[in-house]
Amino acid sequence: MKNSMKLRKLALATFIFMLMILAISHYNGKGGQKNDSTPHINPPEDLGGKGEIGMQLYPTGSRLPDCSHACGPCFPCKRVMVIFKCSLAESCPIVYSSELPHTVVNSFEQFILLMDDDGQIETSLAEIQSFFDSAPPLKDREGIITKVQDFIHKNSSSSGIGKAARVVCVTSGGTTVPLEQRCVRYIDNFSSGRRGAASTEYFLEAGYSVIFLYRSGTCQPYCSTLPDDPFLNCFDASDDTAIQVHPSFAKEVKRAIKENRAAVLGGRLLKLSFTTIFEYLQMLQLIATSMNTLGPSAMFYLAAAVSDFYVPWETMNVHKIQSGSGPLDISLAQVPKMISALRREWAPLTFCISFKLETDSKILLEKARRALKKNKVHLVVANELSTRKEEVIVVAENEEIVVRRNQSKAEAEVERPLVALLVDRHSAYIKHSGS
Ligand SMILES: *[C@@H]1O[C@H](CO)[C@@H](O)[C@H](O)[C@H]1NC(C)=O
Ligand SMILES: *[C@@H]1O[C@H](CO)[C@@H](O)[C@H](O)[C@H]1NC(C)=O
Ligand SMILES: *[C@@H]1O[C@H](CO)[C@@H](O)[C@H](O)[C@H]1NC(C)=O
Ligand SMILES: *[C@@H]1O[C@H](CO)[C@@H](O)[C@H](O)[C@H]1NC(C)=O
Repeated sequence: MKNSMKLRKLALATFIFMLMILAISHYNGKGGQKNDSTPHINPPEDLGGKGEIGMQLYPTGSRLPDCSHACGPCFPCKRVMVIFKCSLAESCPIVYSSELPHTVVNSFEQFILLMDDDGQIETSLAEIQSFFDSAPPLKDREGIITKVQDFIHKNSSSSGIGKAARVVCVTSGGTTVPLEQRCVRYIDNFSSGRRGAASTEYFLEAGYSVIFLYRSGTCQPYCSTLPDDPFLNCFDASDDTAIQVHPSFAKEVKRAIKENRAAVLGGRLLKLSFTTIFEYLQMLQLIATSMNTLGPSAMFYLAAAVSDFYVPWETMNVHKIQSGSGPLDISLAQVPKMISALRREWAPLTFCISFKLETDSKILLEKARRALKKNKVHLVVANELSTRKEEVIVVAENEEIVVRRNQSKAEAEVERPLVALLVDRHSAYIKHSGS
């Protein structure tokens, strides 16, 4: 009896020891050249994220083998097998020094879920709730809910004969982060909204109904061929009564007006605009919970550039920050990671595509793969800033597909083959879900 206990303990100790070795070799293998700030949180490949290991792992060390200083409160430290970044100011690893609810995890998979791209702790649903609770209330919330539900209802009931109509929510443009409650200044996130607008056209062409959730003032579907200030540039007021389209823009203006009107009046395009991060996330949540009723025939195409940092509403200056008071010192909190909430809570049945943009192609694919795993989205579209109009890489669980625009046509956009591929994958997903 006693012996078998001992044996079991020994086995457990060996197992943990092996985990540590795996972890160290993994770290050295991948990040060995850079000994510094690049955390590598992938679980050892051999475990393949297969879930339950049958014991509790206590994340404590900043990086093996350097977790000795954490041994105080987390005794016995032998149970530690964690690699992640510890911020410089921290004497004790992040999990222990903060009081997040996730100090205990049961598996590697779960552990990965708790961290974001940079190895920091993932936000819990409670934190997401508190983000929403403290956000300024969405203006005309009821009106937006009604619009979304009417739109979805019309398009799910009109399909008839067992063939569910497809609806995609395309998010587009960047969010702002206000610095004052009565906002004069804000931090913005770069994005023209061109990808979202172009993709919307192709989704409509493919027979989808589209909820276009866009940053106010960014690109609109069917307008990409118009000049910057179409109202002033495309029209001629020749005499007192008549306003005419300038002949050189006649074709484009006609197309924009016709296609847009057909889509909106036909009930196939619903445009909703946001400006701040608070508006965006609240709208996304309510759209997601409505779209979940459509099941697998709904899709999310999350092309918006969402800020990672924000000033919590309650800590924000009410009035305009005065410039006379010297350098500005603002503390930005991390925006809770909403994609995994969307996948896990709001709309688990829908087909979900997220985007990853980087300026460094070397880390792009790795980050896209990690986002795919961590958020459990179905596909991640990886794009590099400098080449994003030419090609993107669609990252799936078992494959990576390079999608290029047709280079023999000057006006061809990469969104055309991209949307075609996604529609294909969505069909397969619907078929698979139904069987
Ligand atoms: C790690 O990098 C720092 C500089 O960033 C250097 O001073 C130090 O010697 C390096 N340590 C190892 C073990 O390579
Ligand atoms: C969406 O609803 C409108 C209005 O009822 C309808 O004309 C349109 O065909 C629907 N679209 C789809 C894809 O079912
Ligand atoms: C802007 O959005 C991108 C994602 O599209 C994100 O990686 C980046 O950190 C954001 N910028 C800020 C300041 O949060
Ligand atoms: C690209 O465009 C050319 C010219 O219009 C066309 O002939 C060709 O079939 C296109 N290629 C693809 C892959 O669509």
